[in-house]
Amino acid sequence: MASSKQLMGMIRSHAAGDESMFLSIVEHIALDAERAGRGRMAGEIRTLVGNLRSEAASRRPATRPTPIASPRGELAGLVRATYPETRISDLVLSDSAESRIRGIVREHGAIEALAERGLEPRRKLLLSGPPGTGKTMTAAALAGELKLPLFTVMLDGVITKYMGETAAKLRMVFDAASSTRGVYFFDEVDALATSRSSDNDIGEARRVLNSLLQFLEEDESSSVLIAATNYPALLDDAIFRRFDAAFAYDLPDPAQIGRVIVARIGDFGLGDVDWRRVGDAGTGLSQADIVAAARDAARTAVLDHEGVIDTELLLQAIVDRREIHPK
Ligand SMILES: Nc1ncnc2c1ncn2[C@@H]1O[C@H](COP(=O)(O)OP(=O)(O)OP(=O)(O)O)[C@@H](O)[C@H]1O
Ligand SMILES: [Mg+2]
Repeated sequence: MASSKQLMGMIRSHAAGDESMFLSIVEHIALDAERAGRGRMAGEIRTLVGNLRSEAASRRPATRPTPIASPRGELAGLVRATYPETRISDLVLSDSAESRIRGIVREHGAIEALAERGLEPRRKLLLSGPPGTGKTMTAAALAGELKLPLFTVMLDGVITKYMGETAAKLRMVFDAASSTRGVYFFDEVDALATSRSSDNDIGEARRVLNSLLQFLEEDESSSVLIAATNYPALLDDAIFRRFDAAFAYDLPDPAQIGRVIVARIGDFGLGDVDWRRVGDAGTGLSQADIVAAARDAARTAVLDHEGVIDTELLLQAIVDRREIHPK
């Protein structure tokens, strides 16, 4: 059965007249049906999609590429498709980071104007920074803003003991990026630069990294390719120049801590909170920790404080949250 996300995605793409997105979602439903052992239903859905695609192709001028395939077969084990509704405004970022990210979205909305002058929107982005600071959320927000599916590449599926296999799997992912426009998110790319691939065989890992570099370099698709890492220092220098833009994420400053809390639990009436004390107490925690602490405080407020969140409740939740991190 289609998930509610898929249904919402279908309704939205239908309303937006985005047929290729609509069909891509339908193909995912076929894939899910196949996985659930409903091969016949999957086959019927695919036949319908095939018919719709050929009808659409005959209506369209020949120059427009016909998007094909969404993750199916082996590719389904390598990428996971989602349809995020996240927006850039959901992220708490510095003004400059926010405007740079919005700049990327604007470029994709002005593809034709750029093309007239021989330019293209930037598509290959590197996000780096500590855990829980918004890298994955940014990939989702870009997909949400651009109304594209988010294909999260599962590197654990891509990396195998055998170099040839890994390169072939990476190639499948890049082929998909060419045939189905989307945001392709390579999380933890440092895994390719470190010793995860085969029994600490660094040489092996380096060859895998090299094939990633080569595919990145050769990619001329219209997809957005985003790589994220907690450890930019581990990455091969050569990887940086393959990207069109890099974004460094950091732990929130005290003012951002307040903004993260308000964004999450602002409906709890936070008028009397001493933001300076809360911001100082939260310094050193990630945005993800602050969200978790805010929700902890909200839970306590509901159970024990008649739904009112005050400074002490937030401070206690922040202290408790710190316990999660090893000293
Ligand atoms: N900049 C931010 N603004 C608002 N919320 C944030 C931000 N960063 C993180 N969060 C909150 O923390 C959660 C986890 O963040 P996210 O998954 O984007 O972190 P990440 O940088 O990808 O971490 P990791 O390196 O561990 O993958 C988000 O879903 C969101 O609730
Ligand atoms: Mg992440």
